[in-house]
Amino acid sequence: MDSYLQAMFAERIGGARFGKDTTIYKFEKIKRAKAAARKAKPGVELIDMGVGEPDDKAFPQVISTLAIEADKLENRFYADNGCQEFKVAAAKYMKELYGVDLNPDTEIVHSIGSKSALSLLPSCFINPGDITVMTVPGYPVMGTWTKYLGGEVVNLPLLKENGFLPQLETLTADQRKRCKLIYLNYPNNPTGASATPEFYDKAIAFARENNILLVVDAPYAPLNFKGSPLSILSRPGGKEVAIELHSMSKGFNMTGWRLGWVAGNADAVKAFATVKDNADSGQFLAIQKAAIKALGDQANITPAICAKYSRRLQALVETLRELGFDANMPEGSFYLYVQIPKGVKGGMRFANAEEFSQWLITEKLISTVPWDDVGHFVRFSATFVAPTLEEEKRVLDEVKARLSDSVFEF
Ligand SMILES: Cc1ncc(COP(=O)(O)O)c(C=O)c1O
Repeated sequence: MDSYLQAMFAERIGGARFGKDTTIYKFEKIKRAKAAARKAKPGVELIDMGVGEPDDKAFPQVISTLAIEADKLENRFYADNGCQEFKVAAAKYMKELYGVDLNPDTEIVHSIGSKSALSLLPSCFINPGDITVMTVPGYPVMGTWTKYLGGEVVNLPLLKENGFLPQLETLTADQRKRCKLIYLNYPNNPTGASATPEFYDKAIAFARENNILLVVDAPYAPLNFKGSPLSILSRPGGKEVAIELHSMSKGFNMTGWRLGWVAGNADAVKAFATVKDNADSGQFLAIQKAAIKALGDQANITPAICAKYSRRLQALVETLRELGFDANMPEGSFYLYVQIPKGVKGGMRFANAEEFSQWLITEKLISTVPWDDVGHFVRFSATFVAPTLEEEKRVLDEVKARLSDSVFEF
């Protein structure tokens, strides 16, 4: 029998139906398929290209700084929205890498990762009936919270023919009027596309014209393979209409450390700090101080991470192209997003990406993430575990050998 709590759950999480839904969602299906494949072929290595986080730990100088700082009495306190040194270090880094000038007192606040910032920002702006524009496929957190608060989400598709950039001009007059937030994410998960300065300039003009705040989710910004890393805040007028979310997760191998920062428009940063102050008490000061070390030493950290994923992605692109896939080198992130084949010669037909992804796990023991929101694509992540160059080559050769056993039809 259900406890009385069953009747108490809020509608935003399903109300009285909470926990009763038997639909199995994408990531649970992948988890189950992986477990089944491991059981069916216990002697065969499962190559995990489904993971969205770096395969290595933080750099030694960062880990040793954490050890020293964790032992200091003065770092035991709630950090709240403080730690001035971290804000100063983030401002210096933003100048060094992106050419952006920021006032650490008013234009930067730390966050417990980009995800946490995305969950808090709607509380700063969204009243019932207000609109947040999200891009699909994509990372849904800000849209989910918008809906929790009674707002509406309008999804704009990221299409290959548009370079995976949304067409803001397709929003209707009513949507433009009610829209308060537009979510952009570049380099993009899952497409691997980067924004261009021209696109950011257009988005800035659109936001200004329609009184909208651009929320640019930029955890992959340092992982850039083409030209220089780009911040919307470096574009003219960027700071008037945008905030950008940065993270230690991807470009510094510090995913589990949970640290990032929100930068840009001072009013938006202030509102974020106010809501954040009512949600968490800040990240452990020793972690912030270790991150200062990482930011100051970025030239010895991020380029090495970038080179590794670029090398792996190049190899994957070559393999997939040889097999007939329309695979192109991504511009940033660690993801390769490719259209699925229709089937394999003399075998399976794939109605959608989920079926292809299941087949890859079951038959080839290669785990990917399927995306069926806009077309049918799978995302290969270059974050498979391979601690040495030899090991990396072995895994990539193994992927090639396993896939080359099949003839794909497109
Ligand atoms: C697009 C996007 N935004 C945000 C995040 C979360 O980043 P963080 O670790 O900084 O919370 C991820 C993580 O996968 C992501 O892909």
